[in-house]
Amino acid sequence: MDDFEITNPMYTNRIKKILEENYRIKSIEIEHDMIEAEPGQFLMVWIPGLGERPMSIANNRPLTISVANVGTVSGELHKLKQGEQISYRGPLGRPFDLGLQYKTELKCKTTQCVSTENSKFENKCDCCCGIDEASKQESGHPKLGTGNPKHILTIGGGYGVVPMYFLCKTAREHGIDAYAIIGGRCEKDVVYEKHLFVVCKEVFVTTDDGSRGKKGTVMAEFEWLIKEKKFDWVYTCGPEKMMKAIAEKCVELKIPCQVSLERHMKCGTGVCGSCAINGMLTCKDGPVFDAEQVLKFSEFGKVSRDGCGNRKEM
Ligand SMILES: Cc1cc2nc3c(=O)[nH]c(=O)nc-3n(C[C@H](O)[C@H](O)[C@H](O)COP(=O)(O)OP(=O)(O)OC[C@H]3O[C@@H](n4cnc5c(N)ncnc54)[C@H](O)[C@@H]3O)c2cc1C
Ligand code: FES
Repeated sequence: MDDFEITNPMYTNRIKKILEENYRIKSIEIEHDMIEAEPGQFLMVWIPGLGERPMSIANNRPLTISVANVGTVSGELHKLKQGEQISYRGPLGRPFDLGLQYKTELKCKTTQCVSTENSKFENKCDCCCGIDEASKQESGHPKLGTGNPKHILTIGGGYGVVPMYFLCKTAREHGIDAYAIIGGRCEKDVVYEKHLFVVCKEVFVTTDDGSRGKKGTVMAEFEWLIKEKKFDWVYTCGPEKMMKAIAEKCVELKIPCQVSLERHMKCGTGVCGSCAINGMLTCKDGPVFDAEQVLKFSEFGKVSRDGCGNRKEM
């Protein structure tokens, strides 16, 4: 058994803090700095005797998840108290692309640049953090993965704002300006507004009934904002019909966009097949997919499946 390697270990750690985000969402901070975790990745959180559920990583330092109380496992997670233990595997899945790997390797080619590698990350050097001409597409937007966005837009609906916070926080740490649109049915459904204010340039709120922010869906802000300001890349997580509308608009305007999908997951590591969507595995190939790719999935925005694989119309 010498060459046996555990690639997906289960961690058990104490809960550092519990925060009530609203009437149905609690954040659980864990005594663990998961420095390798990237925005868009998730944990498989385990309640012994009941099972595991995927939860987006809301922050990696300290490791944090935000749980909506909607059923069996989420209900038990809501009963946990500070100081108690929680078990989980991760980080899992394909993260959002902020191009940071490329950025680390990027060497400034302009003669007037006096920056050091580190100053780029403090956003002092505009020529390093700016648009690299070579990576521009015909549309004027840099390609996803090329590591030089200056302005990004994130759109989150419901608990879809959770991974958006981690993304905006990471963007800020790397000198990228993040803007956020968050939506809910009414004021009490809006979460993470204050957290996002700390890490974003601007935060726009919408509610269906107008009780907070602009009245309407997130599309009410998205439609004008995407034309008004120049965003290099767009990211979204939330109800699938919302993500479909955003993905379609971005493809039409030729703005690179990524969406984070939610499907029923059992193993979280590409073994069981329960999270399949049009031949792709959401847990391994996703949960983050590029807009062009996901728009080709016939089930996107239309069909999900329950734990037994039965189709459920959205
Ligand atoms: C990649 C990924 C990331 C996720 N991130 C988060 C996260 O950050 N926070 C979070 O709270 N959840 C998240 N989820 C959803 C989560 O994994 C569970 O589906 C959810 O907690 C329900 O599990 P349960 O055992 O409590 O409910 P179950 O007992 O399995 O279901 C009980 C009832 O709730 C309904 N239900 C199940 N899931 C949902 C849902 N998501 N919304 C509304 N009703 C539902 C079911 O249809 C059923 O009627 C994520 C899912 C995926 C795939
Ligand atoms: S959850 Fe098992 S393959 Fe994705």
